[in-house]
Amino acid sequence: MSMDYREYILDHYRDPRNFGKLEHPDVHCEDSNPLCGDQLAIDLEFEGDQVSQVRFQGRGCAISQATASMLSEMIEGRPIKDVIALGKNDVLEVLGIPISPARTKCAFLSLRVLHRALAMAGHEHPASEEEEEE
Ligand code: FES
Ligand code: FES
Repeated sequence: MSMDYREYILDHYRDPRNFGKLEHPDVHCEDSNPLCGDQLAIDLEFEGDQVSQVRFQGRGCAISQATASMLSEMIEGRPIKDVIALGKNDVLEVLGIPISPARTKCAFLSLRVLHRALAMAGHEHPASEEEEEE
């Protein structure tokens, strides 16, 4: 692995993948981090048992927005059950650099919104990780 992961994060931040909204999403969900006010909105469309399309919009720090971009690439075209099963470790893995405790809320914002969106669409995470732990 010779990739510079900081550069990778900045690349996703400057040029977010799947940025925008869907005309007719099956579900739309948004939330913000209370401390900083950074925002994230996710639109999902399903086809059969797959997440067929993903778009996100947001405003915030590089980690929160880059993570959303990476997550969107990770889930598009994937079976819903795999997307439901994604957890914090998957997010940390895709980010590829150690995240300080102070920034974990940044890294997990998009995962939280994604899980909430899936729950709104009737696809509950088995051990619903509604944040407030820590
Ligand atoms: Fe608010 Fe990062 S400082 S979540
Ligand atoms: Fe707010 Fe990162 S500083 S999400």
